[in-house]
Amino acid sequence: MKLFLDTADVGALQRWIPTGIIDGVTTNPTLLSKATSDPLETIQVISGLLPHGDVSVEVTEEDMTSIYEQAHRIARLANNIVVKIPCHIKYYPIMERLVKEGVKVNVTLVFTLFQGLAMTKLGVRYISPFIGRLEDVETDGMGLIRQLRSMLDMYGNETELLAASLRSVQHLHEVIEIGVDAATVPVSILEKAVNHPLTDEGMKRFIHDWKQLGIKQFP
Ligand code: E4P
Repeated sequence: MKLFLDTADVGALQRWIPTGIIDGVTTNPTLLSKATSDPLETIQVISGLLPHGDVSVEVTEEDMTSIYEQAHRIARLANNIVVKIPCHIKYYPIMERLVKEGVKVNVTLVFTLFQGLAMTKLGVRYISPFIGRLEDVETDGMGLIRQLRSMLDMYGNETELLAASLRSVQHLHEVIEIGVDAATVPVSILEKAVNHPLTDEGMKRFIHDWKQLGIKQFP
């Protein structure tokens, strides 16, 4: 399973990438607007930090021609860029064209099983269903992840399931169990997920007990 960081915070990425567990980054206009006043430079830095990881960058234009042209400009920023496009019917022709032209597309804001199926027909690289935002409107986000997993196993070709809008460690554990292809995780959740007080306490106890031997060098 690929693990992406859901952030545009370069400092956080510089701390996490050396751990070796990060396979990519997802950004969106909100994350970029909070993290930087120069999104172009930030994306260039991020894509350089993870040259072999997927870095998702979302389109921000609204009319068809502008989005298509912007998608190509974004894709040209680096080899590891994935262009993020909202799952709206008006963008389907653009997605189809981009996929045929070899652009890696991450379809964002996926909220239904059928939206997911439609995206497999277009051959996009990733679909990103938003768990937390569905739960915000009292809908079963994790149920959608399960449905999409079954649908992709039955009908999907190259399209990968990227669980997004994770709001808790519980969400992360559930999507791991379901078998998503990738999950994008906010830094705050990843920090909680990697730590456990019994790990810290156990380390202290082992060191304390070892010191009782009074050995200077081992082995
Ligand atoms: C994913 O690609 C999105 O950037 C992200 O997961 C959105 O999460 P949110 O609903 O917490 O904003």
